[in-house]
Amino acid sequence: MSEQERIVELRKELHQHNYNYYVLSAPTISDQEFDALLRELAALEERHPELADPNSPTQRVGSDLSQEFETFVHVRPMLSLSNTYNKAEVAEFYERVREGLAGEDFEICCELKFDGLSISLHYEDGRLVRAVTRGDGVQGDDVTANVRTIRTIPLQLAEGTGWPRAFEIRGEVLMPWSSFEALNREREAREEPLFANPRNAASGTLKSKQTAVVAERRLDAYLYYLLGDDVPADGHYENLQAARSWGFQVSEQMRKVRTLDEIYAFIDYWDTERKNLPVATDGIVLKVNSQRQQRALGMTAKSPRWAIAYKFQAEQQSTVLREVTFQVGRTGAVTPVANMEPVQLSGTVVRRATLHNADFMASLDLHLGDHVLVEKGGEIIPKIVAVDEAFITADRGPRVEFIKRCPECGAELVRYEDEAAWYCPNEAGCPPQIKGRIEHFVSRRAMNIDTLGPETIDDFYARGLIRNIADLYDLTVDQLSGFNDSRIRSARKTIQAIEDSKQVPFERVLFALGIRFVGETVAKTLARRFRDIDTLSRATLDELLQVNTIGQAIAESVIRWFADMDNIFLIERLRAHGLQLQLSEQTLAEQSDRLTGKTIVISGVFAHHSRDEYKALIEQHGGKNTGSISAKTSFILAGDNMGPAKLEKAQKLGVPIVSEDEFLQMIE
Ligand code: IVH
Repeated sequence: MSEQERIVELRKELHQHNYNYYVLSAPTISDQEFDALLRELAALEERHPELADPNSPTQRVGSDLSQEFETFVHVRPMLSLSNTYNKAEVAEFYERVREGLAGEDFEICCELKFDGLSISLHYEDGRLVRAVTRGDGVQGDDVTANVRTIRTIPLQLAEGTGWPRAFEIRGEVLMPWSSFEALNREREAREEPLFANPRNAASGTLKSKQTAVVAERRLDAYLYYLLGDDVPADGHYENLQAARSWGFQVSEQMRKVRTLDEIYAFIDYWDTERKNLPVATDGIVLKVNSQRQQRALGMTAKSPRWAIAYKFQAEQQSTVLREVTFQVGRTGAVTPVANMEPVQLSGTVVRRATLHNADFMASLDLHLGDHVLVEKGGEIIPKIVAVDEAFITADRGPRVEFIKRCPECGAELVRYEDEAAWYCPNEAGCPPQIKGRIEHFVSRRAMNIDTLGPETIDDFYARGLIRNIADLYDLTVDQLSGFNDSRIRSARKTIQAIEDSKQVPFERVLFALGIRFVGETVAKTLARRFRDIDTLSRATLDELLQVNTIGQAIAESVIRWFADMDNIFLIERLRAHGLQLQLSEQTLAEQSDRLTGKTIVISGVFAHHSRDEYKALIEQHGGKNTGSISAKTSFILAGDNMGPAKLEKAQKLGVPIVSEDEFLQMIE
C-alpha cells in the first residue's frame, strides 16, 4: 500500500473511531491505540502536504476546547462557511446555486456577519437547557451557566407564541463596542493586557470560570439559524422572524433578495454603514432561503453549498511616521509606540500605533519620516503593517532604534532570557513603576481601595506623599485634603477605605504586592500552601517548585522578590500597620491535606454544592482539579447525569467514581 493510500485509510479509520468514541460512546479500541494511529497519520501528512485536508482527524486538535467545561457533542455539527473576498466569487456562488437548483426560482437571505463566537442554544419546553460553544464543530464546551448571564438570551420563552417543544437555535455571542471600550479602559488603568478586539474579549469572557465576571462584562447575542424537526416554516428568514416573536434577538438588518445586483447593493451599503453599528461585523452572509432548496444543494465536507460569507477588506491607510516614543509600564516593560500624522481609519482618527517590542519594531525597518501602512482590521488597536515602499527616497530619515536607557529614570535597560520585552530594572526608583505598583495594590481585586484612582495616585506622588505601598497607611486626612474644607469628606472616605483594607485576606494581599507572575490564582495557591508571609519568604526554589502549578518562572520571581531588602522592609511596615500577612483562622480551619496528591475530575450535576464550590473544596483540602480524565486521575467526583463518554473512559482506565455524598464524607 502506498503512503497516499495509507493516509486515506487512516483517516477513514480514525473518523470511524472518533465517531465511535464521541458520538456513539462505544469505542472499539483503547486511547493508546487511537493515539498511535493518529500519530502515524500526522507523520504521513507531514510528508505529504499536498494531501492536506482541514477535515482530517489530525486537525481536530486545533480547536478552542478548554479544560474547565464539560464537552458536549453537538446534535448537529456546527459547520463553518466558505469565505469570499470579492464580488466575482459572490457571482460564482450565485451561479452555482442557480445551476444546482436547475432553473427553479430562489431567494437569497442577506445578513450581517457578526464578529464574535458562535453558540448553539437548545430549548426544551420553552426553557434554555444548554448552551455550547462551537469548539471544533463536532463538540464544544458547555457554557450554559455563563450564557445564562447574557441578558438578551431568553431563559424561558413566553407561552402561546408558537415555539416548537424542542429546537436548537444558533447565533453569535458578541461584546458590543461600548462594553469592549469600557473594559479595555479599566484594564489599561490596572495595566492589565488589553483585549485586541471585541471577539477576543467575548471569547475570553464566555470561557471565564466565574459566571459573575461574565455577567459584569455585558455580552450580547444575535441569533441567525433555527434548527429542529418542527420549525414553523420552510423559509430561513421566516423562521427567524418567528424566533424573534418568541423572544430572541434577531438582526433587523436581514433582507431577502433575488438578484445578484441586490446582493451587491446590500454588500456596498454595509461595507460603509457597518461602522455605525453597535457591534463588530466582518462581512456579509448569503444564504439560500428555502430549507428544501438548502437540502437539495447539500454540503461539501466542511461547509454548506447553500451559504457563503463575503468578508470585508481590513481598511488600510498610508501616513507619515513622526516619532517613536517609549512607554514604561508597571512591571518596567518598555513598549515602543509609533506617533504618526493623524489619519482617518475605520471611523476613528489614528495617531498612535503600538510597535509591541524591539523585535517587531526592528522587523519593520522603520525610519523617521517614512510613509507607513496602518491597518485596523479586527484589531481595534491599530497596527503598522509595513513601510510604504513607494515613498522611500534616497534622503530617508534616520533608522528608528530601540532605546538603551529608561526614558523615565535613565537606568540601563535589560532583557531577560526568553522574553521579547526590554525592562527598566530600576524598580525602586522609576516613577511609572512605582505609581503602577501602587495602582495595582489599590485595585479592586487586590486591596480594593477604590477611591484612589490613577489621577489621585499621580497627584499624591507628585506631592511627595507616597513613594511605596506602605506609605499609603501613613496618610492623614489633613494631608489628603490639604486643609481644604471642601475636600475633607472625600479625604475621610479615602482614609477609611485604606483602613478597611487592613482586613483584606492574606491571599489578596499577596496578589496586591505585585510580584511578577503572581496573579490571583498563584497568590491563592501560595497562600494556601505556605500559610503566612514569613514561611513563604523562606521557601527555597525546590519547595516552591514542588507546589502544583508553580513553574520555574514563578518560583524564581518569588525568590527574587524576597531577596530584595527593600521588599522585606516594606513587609515589616505593612505588618506594623496590621495588614493580614497570614491565612485567617477560618481559612485555616477549613483547610486540610486530606486530598493532597489527588487529581480529581468533576463531572455531572450536584445537589449540595455548585461545581465552583466543589472546585474550591478540592483546593482547600490540598487536591487538584483537572478537566479531563487520564491515567493520572485519582477519582471522579460524579454527580447526576455524568456524560456517557466520560463514564466509559473512566471505566476503561480503571478510575474510581466517587459520589457527592462519599466525597463530602471524605473531607468531613
Ligand atoms: S450561519 C451553516 N450567519 O461565521 C451556517 N454565521 O464561518 C452556519 N457568523 O461560525 C453559520 N454571522 O460564527 C451564520 N449571520 C450569520 C453569521 C454567522 C456570523 C459566524 C459564525 C460561523 C462563521 C462561519
